[in-house]
Amino acid sequence: MIAIGADHGGFELKNKIVKWLLDNGYDIKDFGIYENKSVDYPDIAEVVCKSIISGECDRGILVCGTGIGISIAANKIKGIRAAVCGDIYSAAMTKRHNNANVITLGGRVVGEDVGIEIVKAWLTNEFEGGRHQNRIDKITNLENNR
Ligand code: RB5
Repeated sequence: MIAIGADHGGFELKNKIVKWLLDNGYDIKDFGIYENKSVDYPDIAEVVCKSIISGECDRGILVCGTGIGISIAANKIKGIRAAVCGDIYSAAMTKRHNNANVITLGGRVVGEDVGIEIVKAWLTNEFEGGRHQNRIDKITNLENNR
């Protein structure tokens, strides 16, 4: 199950991504926003990321104006590895090397077609494990102050 959410800066791109995911057979849970009104992006990051930590969802997509604020908020939640992606190569590599469980996009930065290609690259690449797992373990150690 893919969790997805956006603030007002990411509202339109989020809706395009939701449509693409549904059209392509992905199970999703849309945490909103459902109408274009101003909200605080940490609140959206919180509900999406907590659904991943609880096990309700297994990965997440977050969209704000730049993708930056919502990624900063998401990365404050233990167990979340959120990557801002503005290009297809980074989206593929953040799955293959960082095993990012969340990607974030900027609705005011990335066009609709590129945004969907970014999501597709992240969804269809596989984590490579090995030395990359060792590095993720070190990130987890940092998170746990070890
Ligand atoms: C909202 O105006 C904007 O600040 C937010 O969407 C995001 O870009 C923050 O990083």
